[in-house]
Amino acid sequence: MNDKNKNKILVTGDRPTGNLHLGHYVGTLQNRIELQDSYNCFFLIADLHMLTTHQDKVGDLKENIVELVIDWMSVGLDPKKSCFYLQSMIPEISELAVLLSMLCSVPRIQRIPTLKEKITAMNLNDNYSLGLLSYPVLMASDILAFNASTVPVGEDQLSHVELTREIARRFNSTYKEILLEPEPLISKNSRLVGTDGQGKMSKSLNNSIYLCDSESVVKKKVMKMFTDPNRTSADIPGKVEGNPVFIYHDIFNDNKEELLDFKERYSKGKIGDVEVKTSLVRSINNFLDPIREKRMEILKNKEEILDIIIEGSKKAREITKINLELIKEAMSLKLK
Ligand code: TRP
Repeated sequence: MNDKNKNKILVTGDRPTGNLHLGHYVGTLQNRIELQDSYNCFFLIADLHMLTTHQDKVGDLKENIVELVIDWMSVGLDPKKSCFYLQSMIPEISELAVLLSMLCSVPRIQRIPTLKEKITAMNLNDNYSLGLLSYPVLMASDILAFNASTVPVGEDQLSHVELTREIARRFNSTYKEILLEPEPLISKNSRLVGTDGQGKMSKSLNNSIYLCDSESVVKKKVMKMFTDPNRTSADIPGKVEGNPVFIYHDIFNDNKEELLDFKERYSKGKIGDVEVKTSLVRSINNFLDPIREKRMEILKNKEEILDIIIEGSKKAREITKINLELIKEAMSLKLK
């Protein structure tokens, strides 16, 4: 084990908006499994972030929070090694967000590409909420409340970490040098194409294979998967590069010899899609089998999940309380 980073605080998290899929696995979960052995990890269930876009859809929130933790644990994130906590149970995060919002101009936030994309995707025009506009500051607060040094994120979240660094610098030069400028950690595969081959795998695009999908659901999704659209029959040479079926094969098929043979025959028009896809179904199901098993184990003690979250939040709060005291002191907000 690498102990060099054991004292370094790492913060990252997910919104509880539904089950996690292969894109999450490839993009961040896989990375976290390794990082939790070498860093002091804090994994955030970002329920307040979820409200910035789904404020009127809270009916499934509690179940989604529990499901998120089940997904985490099913891939090997371990509440004994890392701290799992609920954002809304840490009032210091919200309080800090108010303080940090003084250090950040509105146009600076409005220029953040990920926020702009969200507003466009949701068709909100100029009618977005104050909460949505300020969510990058809330994210800065998630990170700075722990004075984290490391933040693993997908590429799309990089601009938020940059803002966090800027806010930390501004805080340090305005008040007192106490905040670290967190370093982003980008995973090498930060986005996985969806089964439709059109864009990134994402719940809202209906192009996802979920960690909790059954074997038959995986089969159905893979058999319908987008391939080379120009290949209308098996004897037409196909394109391997950029072909979602082969992107998935590269990640999930451990039999590299078989894969090489598939690629060769595919590009010569000597193999049918069905054969390539059938093998991919097998590979993905082999990959998901231990995750499914673990899920079954976890479900036997499902009621423990809430305790894990409550205990984790308590532990996380001990740190944010201390940090917020220091921050308020630096800002002359402490009378005594
Ligand atoms: N904004 C991130 C997302 O939408 C989730 C998130 C919230 C996060 N707070 C964070 C990630 C702090 C890293 C650090 O995916």
